[in-house]
Amino acid sequence: MKKIYLDQASTASPKAPHVADAVYQYLSGIPVNVGRGGYQEAYSAEEIIYDTREQLCRLFHFSQPRNVIFTPNITTSLNILLKGLLRPGDHVLVSSMEHNAVMRPLTQLRAGGVRFDRIPCSRTGDPDLSSVKDMLRPETKAIVCLHASNVCGTILPIHALGQICREHHLCFILDTAQTAGILPIDMEDCCIDALAFTGHKGLRGPQGTGGFLIRDELISRITPLLSGGTGSISHTEEIPDFMPDRFEPGTPNIPGILGLHTALDDLEKQDMAKRFRYEMELTGYFLNGLRTLDPHGKHIRIIGHRHTDNRCAVVSIQTLSEDMAKIAFLLDSEYGIMTRVGLHCAPAAHRTLGTYPAGTIRFSFGPENTFDELDTALAALRELLPFPK
Ligand code: ALA
Repeated sequence: MKKIYLDQASTASPKAPHVADAVYQYLSGIPVNVGRGGYQEAYSAEEIIYDTREQLCRLFHFSQPRNVIFTPNITTSLNILLKGLLRPGDHVLVSSMEHNAVMRPLTQLRAGGVRFDRIPCSRTGDPDLSSVKDMLRPETKAIVCLHASNVCGTILPIHALGQICREHHLCFILDTAQTAGILPIDMEDCCIDALAFTGHKGLRGPQGTGGFLIRDELISRITPLLSGGTGSISHTEEIPDFMPDRFEPGTPNIPGILGLHTALDDLEKQDMAKRFRYEMELTGYFLNGLRTLDPHGKHIRIIGHRHTDNRCAVVSIQTLSEDMAKIAFLLDSEYGIMTRVGLHCAPAAHRTLGTYPAGTIRFSFGPENTFDELDTALAALRELLPFPK
């Protein structure tokens, strides 16, 4: 059975061309460490890593490659930023659509006296911006939010949120898990102080890569969560205060970063807007197929926006007449269609969307999915759900 991968919001597949080769070549050559060895191979690997920082700066419109930090994933990035910044008594605002990568660190911090409030979002996942100013308190330090929902694809208005942060002297911390490499993101224009990214979704690099970009003004306010050897100022047991060493102790994921570098090379050759248009054509086609299949919504409930406005290529549905876990299982076992069912590590989003605790079946698309694959998925739903045959 041919497999059809419709779980791109979880991780991109396939990875960008030559990513696997880059990882393999490094590991099968002399897989040197960086920042430590005084030989050419180590210098060359360091150069590629620095070049990757520059690629990320170009992608996110940021000017300081040394302030690009690599971490194993976006969750680690958000933990470093939130736990390093927030002190007892501080208050932050989040959207009510957040993933647990933001909510679990904040819930942990709450035990130590950090407070947070959720900007209410509608049943389509759009935040009520008019409520934000009234929610600010003297002790509010930051707005932290995702750029697009991993559950229903709704895109949050980051430009407007950034402006609010600028007016009120708040940090703006953005989780770009679902949008880096998919939508244009301008750190300057959107007043983003720290941008957390993952390498393995829209950037189409290897798992185990991610990081954050951080403005100079914020660096000294973030207490490093981790410390250890950096290969620099080794005469002292203090954490270096310079970048990127301040936040990069230990040997990095060198094969992963080299793979990410290759993925970013490919991205720079692509027309990102064209690719996004294609993903939205797929999304529109699938949404239209769902509405045609079930015009009265008796068996399928589309979650979030029913059309392609203000969303990325993530579509969640609830099956009303059949158990969703069973349908997702059958989609895979009978038709080879891979989706993600449940709460997608985002219970807050599901509460907002009215899909908690049952969750949804999520279909998510990437640049290499095809209309034929979506036809197969729609035909499978037609067979699995009790439509009049
Ligand atoms: N956060 C990822 C997802 O939504 C893993 O599936």
